[in-house]
Amino acid sequence: MRNRPSSDPSHRLFAALLIAALCPFVVSLVVLPESANGPAFEATLAAQSDTTIWGGVYTDEQATRGQRTYEQECASCHLDDLMGDGIAPSLVGSSFFFRWSDLSVGDMYVAIRTTMPQGAPASLSPSGYADVSAYMLQMNKVPAGDAELSSDTDDLEEITITEPQ
Ligand code: HEC
Repeated sequence: MRNRPSSDPSHRLFAALLIAALCPFVVSLVVLPESANGPAFEATLAAQSDTTIWGGVYTDEQATRGQRTYEQECASCHLDDLMGDGIAPSLVGSSFFFRWSDLSVGDMYVAIRTTMPQGAPASLSPSGYADVSAYMLQMNKVPAGDAELSSDTDDLEEITITEPQ
């Protein structure tokens, strides 16, 4: 009767090891799909995309300051209605959303600060660029709110530009 598995200690050991080894795997199959959709996972997604430009991310007052800066620094090329002159692109409507949708206000802010006004990049103050960005949002029919748009790029990266619903 040497060949009966139950009477051979090495078979029992093997079976026990096999079960022990499979256990965490089986447990993870049952538990992981739930924890992947749990609070931690949602929190990560929220940090990336919960705040959009549609939540009131600039003030009317800031946009008015931005308009003055825009008229002095940008309108000579992009024109008073922001529609562009054929060389300088339109900063409103479908051109705006085509260029910036799914990017952050931080991406837009950095692009403007590092390239505009053409010929004199980074010549405005950080808050000047934030004000002009606020004005661009206003001219794209994005509603104002209670808090000003920051000039901190980390803050601005939290705000996603999405198409009007
Ligand atoms: C001397 C003309 C001129 C002035 C002044 C100027 N721009 Fe531009 N702008 C351009 C041209 C030309 C382009 C397209 C080529 C390019 O992107 O460099 C452009 C592109 C842009 C873009 C698109 C950039 C991109 O990455 O798609 C934005 C946004 C912009 N300008 C904003 C501004 C703002 C805001 C100001 C004022 C602070 C300003 N521009 C001043 C000529 C100008």
